[in-house]
Amino acid sequence: MTKAEQQQAVAILVPGQFNDHAVGRIDRTFSRVWIERADASLVTDELRRTVRGIAAFGGINAALIDALPNLEIIANFGVGYDSVDARHAAQRGVMVTNTPDVLTEEVANTAIGLLINTIRDLPRAETWLRDGSWARNGNYPLSRLTLRGRSVGIFGMGRIGLAIARRLEAFGLPIAYHNRRRVEGLAYEYHGTLKGLAEAVDTLISVAPGGASTEKAVNAEILSVLGPNGVFVNIGRGSTVDEAALAAALANGTIAAAGLDVFADEPNVLPALLAAPNTSLLPHVGSASEHTRRAMADLCVDNLISWFSEGRALTPVPETEKVKARS
Ligand code: NAP
Ligand code: 8YV
Repeated sequence: MTKAEQQQAVAILVPGQFNDHAVGRIDRTFSRVWIERADASLVTDELRRTVRGIAAFGGINAALIDALPNLEIIANFGVGYDSVDARHAAQRGVMVTNTPDVLTEEVANTAIGLLINTIRDLPRAETWLRDGSWARNGNYPLSRLTLRGRSVGIFGMGRIGLAIARRLEAFGLPIAYHNRRRVEGLAYEYHGTLKGLAEAVDTLISVAPGGASTEKAVNAEILSVLGPNGVFVNIGRGSTVDEAALAAALANGTIAAAGLDVFADEPNVLPALLAAPNTSLLPHVGSASEHTRRAMADLCVDNLISWFSEGRALTPVPETEKVKARS
């Protein structure tokens, strides 16, 4: 058998809906198998015997990993991999990869758009034009808020956080940030706590990953110190926010407005956030251009190809960096 023929025999499980370009490349390279959703109870005896890789769009839990004894790699479509149990994968000797860098600029651009929409109320202003209110009732009301003179705090100064910060520097705004660790050589003001950051700024942008260490980190206390002129933007993960506390803070004037691309229970959005007049909401479209999703698809599939042809992953997540290919 040639190397290509050997690769063609490798079974890659693609649960549920997946990116078309990635599916096309997987079909041309491997043997694709499908189940309706990523659920261990749907694994047949044949899948149990044959599956060696997963291309993942949604969650991959420990039960599904355990149901596939010959699994070697989970290639996650997305840089955030909080829905994949990477720690369990590492214990089982399974590699997990994600799609860093290729989406950074796109997500940073979306964050800036969402920030301006939130502060200047542009989506509602457009509706005012389209529904005839402009012609009927005159000018759209002046926005209460402005981006001018704001100070910005970034929760999660990683790849995307830095790309957002660089853009906001060009707007002439001061930047501060909070991570668990200070970023060496970065001149922006560092805060060792999220509360310290929220106290120091009036505009908080969260680009932090999901997971236990950030669960509901943006809570009533953080929103309270952000203050009545405060604007909160979330382009990271919905799980990092106590959404009930956020809805209350928006309703009672604890903060001024929020722009959200991500939610705790997607695609369901808390009714109070939907109804609030001071929210700007997007359906998790941070990276969602054809160009960027294609680059993510390519990196996801390139990881599978590199693993099964060279025995190494291109972009392993930190938890599985030491996992070795089985010979
Ligand atoms: P990254 O480079 O790994 O940056 C993550 C940053 O968060 C790091 O600087 C990290 O610093 C900090 N961090 C992690 N855990 C923390 C904690 N418990 N407390 C404080 N800071 C913490 O990742 P990235 O490429 O910028 O992506 C960031 C996240 O954006 C992804 O994980 C994903 O959830 C989200 N995302 C959303 C979209 C969208 O469509 N809305 C698209 C892409 C990505 P320390 O390790 O020093 O704490
Ligand atoms: C994707 C994202 O929409 O990369 C991420 O972490 O949140 C987005 O780019 C998502 O991963 C698609 O599954």
